[in-house]
Amino acid sequence: MKRIQIINGPNLNMLGKRQPEIYGSRSFEDFLNELRTDFPQLQLSYFQSNHEGAIIDKIQELMQDCDGLIINPAAYGHTSIAIADALAMLAIPIIEVHISDIYEREPFRHHTFTAAYARKQFVGHGLGGYRLAVEALLAL
Ligand code: DQA
Repeated sequence: MKRIQIINGPNLNMLGKRQPEIYGSRSFEDFLNELRTDFPQLQLSYFQSNHEGAIIDKIQELMQDCDGLIINPAAYGHTSIAIADALAMLAIPIIEVHISDIYEREPFRHHTFTAAYARKQFVGHGLGGYRLAVEALLAL
């Protein structure tokens, strides 16, 4: 396990500014610097998009040159069979992360189509969920 792709879905470019009481006050870029420092042996690539098709294009690219995927599909997890279908094509392990505990929030957040293709799901650990996801990939 060397090359890990992190994909964040819609509105996660606003971390740090967006509902800090739910998602915290730190930007993802700031957290990512820390993660890269903590796992110097890994190549941690990052992609964020607010667009469903762009996320699908990125997932399709991962059929080559990637060892593991960490995805926070954000709201698309709850709605997008197309992103779930793209994940189904991947042979590499997938971990799904949600910063908040989706099971303790509104009922429409309780189900994700994407989880069917993830080896594990981490919810409600804040940004620490991405660290748990890296550790889970390393443990596979
Ligand atoms: C989220 C949870 C989703 O329900 C929500 O739409 C998001 C973020 C999370 O990380 O907690 O945008 O994926």
